[in-house]
Amino acid sequence: MIDLNRPAPTTEPERQYYFIKKVQEYVKAQSEKLGRPLTANITTFGCQMNARDSEKLSGILREAGYVETESEDADFVIYNTCTVRENANLRVYGRLGVLHGYKKKNPNMKIALCGCMMQEATVVEKLQKSYRFVDLIFGTHNIFKFAELLAMTLESDRMIIDIWKDTDQIVEDLPNERKYAFKSGVNIMFGCNNFCSYCIVPYVRGRERSREAKDIVREIEALVKDGVVEVMLLGQNVNSYGKNLEQPMTFAELLREIEQIDGLERIRFMTSHPKDLSDDLIEVMANSKKICPHLHLPLQSGSSRILKAMNRRYDKEKYLALAKKIRERMPDIALTTDIIVGFPGETEEDFQETLDVVRQVRYDSAFTFIYSKRTGTPAAVMEDQIPEDVVKDRFDRLLKEVQTISKEMSERFTGNEETVLVEEKNSQMDGYVTGRLGNNHVVHFEGSEELIGKLIRVRLDECRGFYYMGTMLDK
Ligand code: 5AD
Ligand code: SF4
Repeated sequence: MIDLNRPAPTTEPERQYYFIKKVQEYVKAQSEKLGRPLTANITTFGCQMNARDSEKLSGILREAGYVETESEDADFVIYNTCTVRENANLRVYGRLGVLHGYKKKNPNMKIALCGCMMQEATVVEKLQKSYRFVDLIFGTHNIFKFAELLAMTLESDRMIIDIWKDTDQIVEDLPNERKYAFKSGVNIMFGCNNFCSYCIVPYVRGRERSREAKDIVREIEALVKDGVVEVMLLGQNVNSYGKNLEQPMTFAELLREIEQIDGLERIRFMTSHPKDLSDDLIEVMANSKKICPHLHLPLQSGSSRILKAMNRRYDKEKYLALAKKIRERMPDIALTTDIIVGFPGETEEDFQETLDVVRQVRYDSAFTFIYSKRTGTPAAVMEDQIPEDVVKDRFDRLLKEVQTISKEMSERFTGNEETVLVEEKNSQMDGYVTGRLGNNHVVHFEGSEELIGKLIRVRLDECRGFYYMGTMLDK
């Protein structure tokens, strides 16, 4: 039993459980007073890492007694922000205006902001100056302290700001609430040491820290017991996993351990940096029954000159050789990528090199981005920033190429019999469900809701661009 008459414990996670209990009492008293449950709403911007962090926020809010709602007209609203590109920031400011309107009607409402955007000093200054109605601001390094910060916010009328510059702390065993019963993200490392010259992530997520393999395996075992069949191992660059552990180990070695977990059916991971993808990893993937035949291998640019300016530490030839090696060893693998157009100094020739790689590798799908200038990164002060109209034109041409190829690539599996993990009821077609193949392609087929979370054999009847229509085989 947690005794709230005693001072808060100083060790983690005990300290956070103490504050969860404290918030529980507040929520209970407040609900009794209002004669209704207290509601909470979480909005997640950005990547899978943030999605996983939001599950941790959600776990704590539910444990504390809040009822989660879809509406932002709630008693506690939190935005888990992203700052990888400028438009992510602009969206947050826009939506804060709407929240202010709700807060004027509900004086008990508390508004919190967390995540990558909050690690930027200029953002926090702007919020302090022009968004005084925000109650709580914290960053990426102290998200484990959410229960404690929430308790402080509920007791205070002032804006609470707690931003850490960095941390080497990893707190295990806090509650979390999964979005899907049958699949889950699992952090294997935090932060990034690569400092690609356009990217703000190393500044807002801090230095690389790996979790101990035993903690990762223990978490996955518990997830499997709780019904999870697929995990997505998360890290900014999983290929440098384990380098700074007391007893260093490689990502390939970690995968071999995770493969042994009984009841776990599928293993995915994200993201892999081409500079240090090992032959050992390719072998582990090729020989594995559980690791999905999908590799996300961000290219960013096909021009060796631009790659150097981006500080990517590979060139066009090395990337192409790697892609070829992977395809030769695993012919059915799906390769996906991220590409940036309009990096400072990018010429039409550089852009043609990018198109050339796209044509040679033939990606199953690609995320394409317009370069966004992030203050504080080396690229932001590089000369020769590219005019908007030139970038837009290149972006459109790249998108067309990528889409044409990915449609053609999808076709190659038509007629195959494959296993899908059913994820949800189809929202467009009654009586249909939607699932994913190991290679991440989406399949719709006739079936009932009971199939959700199950691995089902289907035949891929027809490819419609980016997805398949299939038929269930073993009914
Ligand atoms: N501008 C545009 N895209 C960016 N990315 C990262 N930083 C920027 C930026 N400043 C893209 C990269 C990365 C993906 C997650 O976001 O392609 O792989
Ligand atoms: Fe950013 Fe590069 Fe790190 Fe990815 S590897 S998070 S692009 S700095």
